[in-house]
This record gives sequence, C-alpha cells and structure tokens, in this order.
Amino acid sequence: MVWRKLLATGFVIALGFAAFGQSQPAKETSLRARLGFRLFKDDRFSSPQGDLQNSCSSCHLSDEDPQGMRAHTDFFARSWVPWRSGDPRRDELRNSPTILDSALMPRLHFDGEFSSLEGLVKGTLAGRPMGWLPGEEELSFERVRGIILKDTGDGANSDSSYPALFKAAYGVDTERLSKSELIELAVRAISDYLRTLKTARTTPYDRFVQANALASGPEGSEDPKHFASRLLNKIAVLEKTRALKLPGGFDAVALKGMKVFFRADGIGSRGNCATCHTPPLFTDLSFHNMGISQTEYDHVNGERSFAALEIPGAAQAERPSRQFRETPSLQKPRCADLGYWNFVDLSNSPLRRAGESDDRFLQRMIATFKTPTLRNLAFTSPYMHTGGFTTLESALTELMRLSEMARAGQVREGDEELAQIIIREADISSLVAFLTTLNEELKPGQKY
Ligand code: HEC
Ligand code: HEC
Repeated sequence: MVWRKLLATGFVIALGFAAFGQSQPAKETSLRARLGFRLFKDDRFSSPQGDLQNSCSSCHLSDEDPQGMRAHTDFFARSWVPWRSGDPRRDELRNSPTILDSALMPRLHFDGEFSSLEGLVKGTLAGRPMGWLPGEEELSFERVRGIILKDTGDGANSDSSYPALFKAAYGVDTERLSKSELIELAVRAISDYLRTLKTARTTPYDRFVQANALASGPEGSEDPKHFASRLLNKIAVLEKTRALKLPGGFDAVALKGMKVFFRADGIGSRGNCATCHTPPLFTDLSFHNMGISQTEYDHVNGERSFAALEIPGAAQAERPSRQFRETPSLQKPRCADLGYWNFVDLSNSPLRRAGESDDRFLQRMIATFKTPTLRNLAFTSPYMHTGGFTTLESALTELMRLSEMARAGQVREGDEELAQIIIREADISSLVAFLTTLNEELKPGQKY
C-alpha cells in the first residue's frame, strides 16, 4: 500500500534520481539529468518509417532485460537498427559499448567519429540507430520537437511533462524556442544525463589498490609501461615483507593474473595489457589495430585477403568512406571496417610521429579502434567491436593468436604493442580471474 502511494506521488522517481552520481549533485544538475533520463528512454523519437521503435536505452540497457544486468549495453553482437527500404540493414556497424565514464572519453565511438557527447547525441538522435537516413536530420528534429511540445508526462504527475521538465531544468518556455534551440537543449539534457553515468570504483580491484596504498594510475605524463613496472615492484616488496593484503573478491589467482596483465617486459608471460588498458579507466583512450577487422574480413573473403585489399593513400582517400566503414559480407565485396582510419585528423593528430608522411600515418591508422575499458566486462558481453566473442576466454584466446600472427608479420598494420603480448594458454584463466575483479556490483533497480 505504502509502495503504491509513494509511486503515485512520484516519490520513488525522486529517490531514484537522488542516487545519481557519487555525491549528491547540485539541484540543477539533477533536474537536467532527470530530463535527460526521460529523453534517453523515450522510443517515440525514432523514425515512423522504420520497423522498430528505438530509444537510446534499447541498445544501452541497464536492468530492463530479463536476461540480466547490463552496463548500458545490449546482448547482441551488433545492435538492431530499424529497417528502412532506402538502406536495408538490420545491424549496427559495431557492438554497443558501455557508456559508463563516456564523459571522460576525448573521442567517442570505436572509430572516434565524435569529439563531444553533444555531437554524438545529436548525430545519434538524427541517425541510423533511430531509423533515420542521411538527409533526414531536419525531419528527425521536427519529430523530436513535436513530441516534446505535446508531451503530458506520465499522467500521475503533470510536473513530469517535457515542457515542465524543460522549465524546471533550464528555465525556458519550450513553446517559445525555435526548433534548433529546443534540439540543442534536448541534446544538452541527454548529455548531462550521460555525464552522471560513472563507474563506482568500488570493485575488488579498487579495494586491493586502496588496501595496499598502490598508485591508481600513471602520474602526470608517466609512460604506462613505467607505471606498470612501478606497480609490480611495489607489490613484490609488499609480498616479500608479507604485508600484501588481499581483500574479499581478490584472491591469489587474481593476483597472478594481475601480474601477467601489468608485466610488459622480462622473460616469461607478459600480457602488456596495461600499456593500452591503462588504469584507472583501463583504456589509454587511444586507437590500436588488434587484427579484429582483418580476421572478420578474411573470414568472409578468404585467408590473407585483407592483406591484399587495396586501400587508397592520403591524397585519394575519401574519408569517412562507405567502402571502408562497413561490415564485410559477400553481398558487399571489398567492404571493410577500417575504424579510426575514417576520421583521424592527418594534420593535428597527437598519434602522428615526427617526420611521418601523410600516407604512412594514414596507413598506420588502418583498422585501428578505440581501446575499450575493461571495467564491468561481466555486463558487456559479447566482446570486441564485432561482438564476435561471447566469453572472455574466447576473446583472450583470440588476442593470444593475433599476437603470434603479429610477431610473424601477418597482421596488416598490426599495432607494435600487439606483438609484445606474450601469453600462454595457461595464463588465460588467471587473466580472466583478474578481469573479474573489475566488475562492480551493478544491482537491478540501481539508477545512475
Ligand atoms: C541501435 C542501437 C543504438 C541506439 C538506439 C543508440 N546507441 Fe549508442 N551506441 C551504439 C553502438 C553500436 C555504439 C558504438 C558505435 C561505434 O563505435 O561505431 C554506440 C556508442 C555510444 C556511445 C559512445 C561510447 C564510447 O565510449 O565511445 C555513447 C555515449 C552512446 N552510444 C550514447 C547513446 C545515446 C545518448 C543514444 C540515444 C540518443 C544512443 N546511444 C542510441 C548503439 C546504439
Ligand atoms: C595495443 C593495445 C592493446 C593491448 C596491448 C591489449 N589490448 Fe585489449 N584491446 C585493445 C583494443 C584496441 C581493443 C578493441 C579491439 C577491437 O574491437 O577491434 C581491445 C579489446 C579487448 C577486450 C574486449 C573488450 C570489449 O569490451 O569488447 C578485452 C577483454 C581485452 N582487450 C583484454 C586485453 C588483455 C587481457 C590484454 C593483455 C593480454 C590486452 N587486452 C592487451 C587494445 C589492446
């Protein structure tokens, strides 16, 4: 009874929002995030001409699915987009990633397409994920505007209507805003909501780091490899004096896996993982070719076909490219996903090396993808940008195989650090045990 009354007053919703972020956010921020949260879940913005009604939360689920908890990802290898006769496809280009901590990413999407949350949200609202085709931007914005203006909220509580929420959050009268002003504000509200989605940093790994007073990440511009060896040295000292503490959820097997994960030189197994998956986010926010695109291409077109694929140089390349921003299939010969190659800024990229020509630099960017975080992998399967690996064991076995191929010079433009991964099959279970310590306790009903 009490529960029903609370629901009717909207009290539960307010409570849910009080849990946003790690500390109690300013009132204004929480109002904006609350509005953004509603927009994020609204499936009326998708194109009426598509055969699916998508909202952001269709592909970025948390606890809506009976199959289990998600860290704002779905269960598909590639999420479903609404089918349109003008662009008959069912699948997204890539696997949907977690969006926790996306506010900390200088570039978004696996291929770095967007450099701000606002840019991403606007592009997505008017894009293929919501069933819109290129050229339909204004149509999509008109639809968003119409729905916002006519919205009456959830019925029980008129304060929950979009006009009321916009008024409370931004002090504006939606009727008086131009279409573009209203869209900018809606985009800002969704982005403000995304900024509240953070990892909690309370995992067994975080507690291990804290209990042993270890550094949580590189200091300043410290090289990740230097940081990794500093961390391992400190652990070795603590072990020698029997002072190393293992908190609950972080056992000896996880510790063994952690050592492989951080080790980047010396004899024996060395994962070299932290060079790219650098704590505390477990990503270097950069782009690397791990051979995943090559494998998918060769699988469709035949062994070694990616090596022979003709890819234009800097002067001829049209980027982003339809041919090279596509999932390989027999129906689309010579199409491949070259990732960041499509968007990298040849003149200003920090990844460009001194003295490197445009052509050489662009070649080096072939099939590079943004390093994904390794936090909360329990809630983000399947893995890799292709979503081709349903278990961590299978993903790591593939990385081991690709690292061997890279050493044999068989990965076209493979990252130099890929060849530096030297692990054996026997390391995989301890690496998985370590990765498991990076899972938060995401609980049903938990609202970010
Ligand atoms: C059809 C499924 C789908 C829908 C709908 C969708 N997304 Fe995504 N989202 C994806 C996929 C797939 C990616 C990865 C895209 C890529 O890398 O090419 C992604 C990437 C992202 C990222 C980037 C994460 C990162 O670290 O780079 C953010 C943020 C995001 N989506 C937010 C949103 C928001 C906000 C909406 C609603 C406006 C939305 N998404 C709608 C599937 C979807
Ligand atoms: C050279 C940089 C680099 C190194 C070294 C590296 N990774 Fe990665 N890792 C990446 C990139 C980039 C991807 C995404 C590749 C793709 O989808 O095309 C990735 C993907 C993954 C994934 C899938 C994550 C997901 O959400 O889909 C896992 C798991 C992973 N790496 C674990 C490891 C482990 C364990 C090691 C060490 C043995 C390691 N990686 C070493 C860059 C690296």
